[in-house]
Amino acid sequence: MSEHILTICYLVASVTFILGLKMLSHPATARKGNLVAAAGMSVAIVGTIFLPQPDGTILHNYGWIFGGLLIGAVVGTLAAKKVKMTAMPEMVSLFNGMGGACAALISLVEFDHVSKELAADPSLDISHIQTKVLIIVLGLIIGSVSFAGSIIAWGKLNGKIKDFSFPGQNILNLVLLALALGAGAYLVIHPGHSLLFYGIFVLSLLYGVLFVMPIGGADMPVVISLLNSFTGVAAACGGFLYDNKVMLTGGILVGAAGTLLTILMCKAMNRSLKNVLIGSFGASNAAAASAGVAGHYKEVSLSDAAMLMSYANKVMVVPGYGLAVAQAQHTCHELEKILNEKGVEVKYAIHPVAGRMPGHMNVLLAEADVSYDKLLEMEEANDEFKTCDVVLVLGANDVVNPAAKTDPASPIYGMPILDVELAKNVIVNKRSMKPGYAGIENALFFQPKTSMLFGDAKKVLQDLCNEIKSI
Ligand code: TAP
Repeated sequence: MSEHILTICYLVASVTFILGLKMLSHPATARKGNLVAAAGMSVAIVGTIFLPQPDGTILHNYGWIFGGLLIGAVVGTLAAKKVKMTAMPEMVSLFNGMGGACAALISLVEFDHVSKELAADPSLDISHIQTKVLIIVLGLIIGSVSFAGSIIAWGKLNGKIKDFSFPGQNILNLVLLALALGAGAYLVIHPGHSLLFYGIFVLSLLYGVLFVMPIGGADMPVVISLLNSFTGVAAACGGFLYDNKVMLTGGILVGAAGTLLTILMCKAMNRSLKNVLIGSFGASNAAAASAGVAGHYKEVSLSDAAMLMSYANKVMVVPGYGLAVAQAQHTCHELEKILNEKGVEVKYAIHPVAGRMPGHMNVLLAEADVSYDKLLEMEEANDEFKTCDVVLVLGANDVVNPAAKTDPASPIYGMPILDVELAKNVIVNKRSMKPGYAGIENALFFQPKTSMLFGDAKKVLQDLCNEIKSI
């Protein structure tokens, strides 16, 4: 009877994962979705710990289990509470790496069990052992690549690790991957070779490091999302191995969602998935891309900018990473309300990779209660720019850089961008002429239609609000 209760727990948890994922697809329900999925995961964990497994066994090593749970819960809660919104992608990457490490550890432990079983009784059903070894090896390779790659991605995002590549690196990457897979296939056929197993482990870690090392600039989000899907698949291998339905469902959901997100991000940045897999794109080309972008830029005074916006019919705000750094989302919403009171229509143009994580700008503006119907996706915004009197670029740079369309040498070449120069006037707020994430100059800042409004986004927006109120 109690095994059936465990099955019901797993079913409930699986349903909450699916509902949670569905709710995560809209900013209005995302927070609740997270809680629903977390509640489901709690049901699955409590059930697994206290109820008998399908084969009748009951867990007994509670000291280890609760010790681990306590350490994980304390570290996770503190990290999540302390993390700044702008450092969220780093944390996601680190946590994803931990998932990959868990999957690899499961494989390490289980291979040891299989080896001992095989040594104790060589007459065991070999096809059963081979199936087990196949899943163990897959979990090991995918989990180790995900762990090593995520740690490198974490280091790159927080600036501790720099991009690194050398001639022939792609070939070496392919050779490493082929060796790991080839050795894995051999091990499945001849499951007794423990040394080979640890060789595959080392090769996979090395591949994870070398595969992420050369990827730089604007391409990191694609890699992080790809590694996320790897962790999901590695966890699903664990579910298959233990015949644990909820682990299998959770892993498959993460794997599928991560793969879909990877494809969407590739589309948003116009990159091919094949290039992501062999780690060949994104090597910094910043110097070449910035050559020739120079000239005179003009500045606009605060009062002129305020005047221009007050007498506009339509203003489009383009938020970027700088808005998040300045934590100016509330002041931005305040400006929108003041302009609305003056009869000015205000909308927001959201680029899919503005900021540092998927949906960064949506989350930021939702935090300030900006209405969702004012947020335009890139294609809609690009259709509307020509009807705007003013575009106010707030701490965005790469996502409005025309080099993506005009300069094949640019590392962001091919990435769809917001065509802000179609509007009558463009005001760009940032603190200096320094480049953005991709490290390249931006010709938009030197165009005749563009005026620079220098300063921290929060301070500038506060001053703009005061100025517009006084007009
Ligand atoms: P960026 O190109 O990074 O530019 C942000 C700009 O904000 C900088 O040029 C900076 O100029 C300015 N800034 C910084 N602090 C500011 C402050 N307090 N007040 C005003 N301005 C400030 O941002 P973006 O246009 O949003 O593009 C995002 C980039 O990150 C893309 O290249 C994208 O591919 C990449 N990326 C995206 C993601 C995801 S998934 N969204 C993940 C990783 C990387 P100053 O220093 O002169 O102020």
